[in-house]
Amino acid sequence: MTMPEPTHRLAGKIVLVAGAGSSAPGWSIGRACAVAMARHGATIAALDFDRTAAEDTVREIEQIGGRAIALQADVGDADAMADVVNQVIAEWGRIDVFHANAGISKTGGPEDISMEDWHRIQHVNVDSLLIASKLILPHMRRQRAGSIVTVASVAGLRYIGYPHLAYSVSKAALIHFTRMLAQQYAADGIRANVVIPGLIDTPRIQKNVAHMFDAASLDNARAARDKQVPMGRMGTPWEVANAVVFLASDEASYITGAELVVDGGITGKYV
Ligand SMILES: NC(=O)c1ccc[n+]([C@@H]2O[C@H](COP(=O)([O-])OP(=O)(O)OC[C@H]3O[C@@H](n4cnc5c(N)ncnc54)[C@H](O)[C@@H]3O)[C@@H](O)[C@H]2O)c1
Repeated sequence: MTMPEPTHRLAGKIVLVAGAGSSAPGWSIGRACAVAMARHGATIAALDFDRTAAEDTVREIEQIGGRAIALQADVGDADAMADVVNQVIAEWGRIDVFHANAGISKTGGPEDISMEDWHRIQHVNVDSLLIASKLILPHMRRQRAGSIVTVASVAGLRYIGYPHLAYSVSKAALIHFTRMLAQQYAADGIRANVVIPGLIDTPRIQKNVAHMFDAASLDNARAARDKQVPMGRMGTPWEVANAVVFLASDEASYITGAELVVDGGITGKYV
């Protein structure tokens, strides 16, 4: 599954993607989502901690004839995020879609993880949604419309076979945060949904997680991840992006508070 064919499903929408870069060269989930949404007609504010990575995403969007700007900020920095939101509003006057994709992880259980890493992971993965919500919801309420699509993980639903405590707890919190947003803001025309990816083949996984499956060989690690999935393979970032596009778009106009699992069947495996 590669980049989707172009459509007008998101024509005219202004989308802020947080974590629109990639932590290593290639197609991350955020980059695929930003490019896919542009491919479906949206204008993209591509925000990342890593400015070069955000600019690479903008270049991909421009190459397919889309419109995007790159913005640099740490999603955990309230002042920097206020500047970002002000910039998007100054540029385009509205934010139709907020895609909260930025996330960090560190493997390990309670005896391995330092308090410092724990707090940093909760801050980037969870507090950042509070920061962004405070800044973006007033604009969406004024518009009487908006779509928030967060990105959790099956690690937020289940034990995934190795200790990944801080990350898993943060993603569980993110899922519930999204449900709470959906309930409180439904009457304002604001939808909030969470996409829950399973094992997705992204550059970050090759860099950070593969060693949990096979420390010596990346090929073996990828094969071991493939084997865990009922469909027999990891997902592609584009398969996550298609779910995000759907929830972001007006095609999902009656869907809020949904948890869309995109996992090749892995979550149902040992229930
Ligand atoms: N790859 C998987 O198998 C998988 C599975 C389930 C969920 N996810 C989730 O999907 C999202 C994307 O994952 P990915 O594998 O594409 O990772 P990635 O690291 O390539 O992408 C995350 C992006 O977020 C940016 N980022 C990190 N911290 C930031 C911060 N403080 N402020 C702004 N930007 C920041 C990074 O620079 C990077 O460009 C994450 O939330 C991850 O938890 C991934």
